[in-house]
Amino acid sequence: MTQRTITLRRPDDWHLHLRDGEEMRSVLRHTAQVFGRALIMPNLKPPVRQTCDALNYRRRICQAFDSSPECGHFNPFMTIYLTDDTSTTDIVIAATSERILAAKLYPANATTNSAAGVTDIGKLDPIFRAMAKNGLVLSIHGETLINARGKEIDIFDRESRFIETLDLIIRKHPGLRIVVEHVTTRKMVEFVQAAGPNVAATITAHHLLYNRNALFTGGIRPHHYCLPVLKREEDRQALLAAATSGNPQFFLGTDSAPHARGTKETACGCAGCYTAHAALPLYAEAFDTVGALEQLENFASHFGADFYRLPRNTGTVTLIQKPWTVPLTYPFGNNVLVPLRAGEEVLWQVAD
Ligand code: NCD
Ligand code: ZN
Repeated sequence: MTQRTITLRRPDDWHLHLRDGEEMRSVLRHTAQVFGRALIMPNLKPPVRQTCDALNYRRRICQAFDSSPECGHFNPFMTIYLTDDTSTTDIVIAATSERILAAKLYPANATTNSAAGVTDIGKLDPIFRAMAKNGLVLSIHGETLINARGKEIDIFDRESRFIETLDLIIRKHPGLRIVVEHVTTRKMVEFVQAAGPNVAATITAHHLLYNRNALFTGGIRPHHYCLPVLKREEDRQALLAAATSGNPQFFLGTDSAPHARGTKETACGCAGCYTAHAALPLYAEAFDTVGALEQLENFASHFGADFYRLPRNTGTVTLIQKPWTVPLTYPFGNNVLVPLRAGEEVLWQVAD
């Protein structure tokens, strides 16, 4: 029997956590071998707040890849982290750098390394005006934790409750270009669709493949815990429909988020799924479940570049439908990490 293959333009990953130092050096290759570009998230400790921090971080990534300035075929783009102290000057400077595409809004304490995030989004209007004027994209972790009466919002409702905040931002700043990162709910998908071409969303492979049952299959599964948390099956179906619809508002962002095994397999485990080792094959698997492999290239290689107003990559990658078993662990600095599907099969692989 001949193997099924699909060849697509080299893809990009528009939402990636690389960490730093030895940890970054251990995971970088998984992304750089397949993707042409990635948008690197700024939630280091301390966060990447300023243009100079972002450009220094980029230099460390390129050195790890050992071919600067363009890192061979891999070109990392950077984000800066918005805090309560971000100034409009910080925004203007970031916007002048071709290497920096976005400023990332983490509501304070919404996720891993977000303690320095924004405590009052209502105060960011001058920042958003400067971003719209200078062409810097707003990248958002869209979850609300506390309601107006100070009550904690249910973890499964945090993304849909963020819609009212997002709606306000869009109404006040119609010229601001926004990416709602790692969308997880039908409600947010529908909101983005209705919001028009200045608003887009990334979708992860794990949210296309799993629903919240995966957190509790036969026991608690810390390696399926990420934020925003996995949602219901009807939400997963809506994400899959959006990703495969050919709507350019939805594109690939893995949110691959490496954590050392011991920080996940513990009494209070970190949020984040590691998917970079099998990112494109996992998306192919998801698209194939609905017979939509022909839409993978748009989603993975076209729509993100178009939204960020960058040329599409040259060159191609080929996927073969040939199952392989994911290793139980990968090295991660002085530790190891447990990848998604550890010890289990992934149905597709990237051809050499
Ligand atoms: C991310 C991380 O570990 O940095 N974790 C996650 O669960 N997705 C942060 C984030 O993107 O929320
Ligand atoms: Zn992320």
